Order: sequence, then structure tokens, then C-alpha cells
Amino acid sequence: MAKPNIDASKLTITLIQTPKELKDQSTLKFGDYFTDHMLCIKYTEENGWEAPEIKPYGPLAIDPAAYALNYSVQAFEGTKAYRAADGTINLFRPQKNLERLASSSQRIMLPEFDQEQFLECIKELIKVDQRFVPHGHGYSMYVRPNFIGTEPNLNLAYSREALLYVYLSPVGPYFPRTVRLYANATEARAWPGGVGNYKLGGNYAPALRPAKDVNNRGYDQILWLLGDDHYVTEVGTMNFFIFWVNADGEKELVTAPLDGIILPGVTRDSLLELARRWGEFKVSERKITMPEVITAIEEGRLLEAFGAGTACIVCSVSEVFYQGKDHVIPVDPTDPDAVYGPLTKRLRAELLDAQYAVTPSSWNVPL
Ligand code: COI
Repeated sequence: MAKPNIDASKLTITLIQTPKELKDQSTLKFGDYFTDHMLCIKYTEENGWEAPEIKPYGPLAIDPAAYALNYSVQAFEGTKAYRAADGTINLFRPQKNLERLASSSQRIMLPEFDQEQFLECIKELIKVDQRFVPHGHGYSMYVRPNFIGTEPNLNLAYSREALLYVYLSPVGPYFPRTVRLYANATEARAWPGGVGNYKLGGNYAPALRPAKDVNNRGYDQILWLLGDDHYVTEVGTMNFFIFWVNADGEKELVTAPLDGIILPGVTRDSLLELARRWGEFKVSERKITMPEVITAIEEGRLLEAFGAGTACIVCSVSEVFYQGKDHVIPVDPTDPDAVYGPLTKRLRAELLDAQYAVTPSSWNVPL
């Protein structure tokens, strides 16, 4: 008989005794403040998925020998809920994140889960903690699902016990300014045949030391290059886009293809779709190399560069260090104080209008 899958109708809710005081919204940063409750759903190979539980946010009891702690059996996601001007709350394309979580977790032998039922449980969690969803552009509720292998067993097989849990973090602007990148060609975030296209904690931990090194040198994030031709893949927490006049003289928005190296970002996908709907210039998912980017900068053909991700949304790149030199990327030649280039600004505005339901969008999922 099929083992039980996640069933939202079995959700139980235990409310916190002493609710937290809300933090002043203007002090919100990214990811250091959490709401009152979390969603936990346990799995065992023997009995399948247990009834989902919403309970007070707090430490998890996890066996020291759990797979997650020894062998990094951990996948995660990041999606956001946005409050519209009329007070209603929408999740932005959460199904895409849950599809990616399913793909990431299957790669590390975590069990399949019913994505629709899981989404229903997430909506309930946000409803329970809806007073924490901030107001206004730039502010949102970051939703972090984590999926971990909890079986205590040092045998390198697969975890027959798992925990899927979700917690919420009200957040403010991630990079309220342009960023400076450091192109790293000596270390790799991902490689052909690797796992760069899965959102696994194990992809992020080895990037911490290289990221700290570039922070110490005054750069915000790494631009990861790959291979001898210095293929431009992605940035620390974002997909990378350039808008340029290409070598054939065409205006083109380009980002790396979904070739297994880069993370298939939901913001990436949304921006590509918006730009394709406009139909005003070429939109490409293709491999470009750093020497091509530098030549374009030198020839004045690089119009804008930006990063895109759920946490940061869209942010302009103003400089990139490559082979011993800082290369300045124009942000907006008409405005020396601009934080976004003209195209970056337009894409960001259209995306935010959809997210905050200023314009109706089929991407929004109401609570
Ligand atoms: C996100 O954009 O949701 C991320 O996961 C970035 C995070 C690693 C800071």
C-alpha cells in the first residue's frame, strides 16, 4: 500500500504562549529575524509522511549522527510573500521553488513529497504569522523551506528519515545600492557533472571562505568563472545578466544557460519572460566568456550588468575585478548617482509591480 504523503487537512497548529514584539520595519535586514512559528513535517521510510505541524519557532531536536549533520543531506529554498497596498498577501511563483526543492532533494536521496499539499501548509504558516509580513516596496516575508536527512546512521547509504520544515523571516532591501564583483577563475562553485543546479547547502559552505576573501578586499560578491575560457556563470547569491550591444551589433540581454552549472533562479526566469514579452531586443540564455565581457566594456558596448535572485531581487553591478584590474561598468550614464541602470530599473519595477500586485499577475498565489 502507498505510504501517506503530506496531507494539509491533517495539519495541527499549536500557538506560541508569548508572541514576539514586531521589529521596527525600517531596521529589517536580510535573514536575522524570525517569526513566532514554524512548520514541521516528518517522514520515515516505514510510515511515510506524518501529519504536518505548525508550532512555536524554536530549536530542533536532531540526533548528532543524523545524515544532515555528517554528509550534508540538506536542500533548501527561498521564496517570498509580498503584502499588496490593500493589505492582501501573495506568494510569488512558489510552485517553481517547490519544483526546484523536489529536484534538489531527489539528487541527495531525500523522499518525494506532495508539492501542492506542502504549499497549502506553507500558506497556513504565513496566515498564522501574517502580522509579521512587512508593508511597502522593498520589504517582504522571506520563506525558507529546509529539507534534511535525520536518520542517525554513519553508513553512506541514504537517510530513511527526514524532516521538511519551513520558517519565515521578515526582510528589508538586500543590496540597496550597486555592487562590486570580483571575478574568480581559480576556484569553482560548480562544474560539469556537478550539482550547481541544485539548491543544496553543500554548494554554499565551500563558497564562504572565497566570499570572505573578496569582502576583505572591498568587493561584495564573487562572479564565478569556469574553465579555461572563463565562462561567466553566476554570482554568489544571484544569477548574472548583461545587457549589451553584442559583437554582431545587436542589443541583447544575456544570461548563462541552464546547463547544469548555474542555479535555475525563479527571478532569472521571471526577468527573461518579462523581457521576452516586451520583444524590444534579443533575449538569450547562452554561454558568454569574461574576455568577451571585458572587450565589450572596453569598446563601450556593455550597457548594463545586474544580478538577480529571490533575496536581492535585482541589483546593478558597477564594477568587476578581473585579472588584476577593476573594470567599471556604466550604471546610468545620465545619472552619476543612479543605483539601477535604465533597463535594470525597468525590469525591477515591472517585477516589483507584479510581486506587490500593483499590476495583476498570474504569478501571484494569494494566501
Ligand atoms: C535566495 O536568493 O533566495 C538565496 O537563496 C540567496 C541566499 C543564499 C542568501
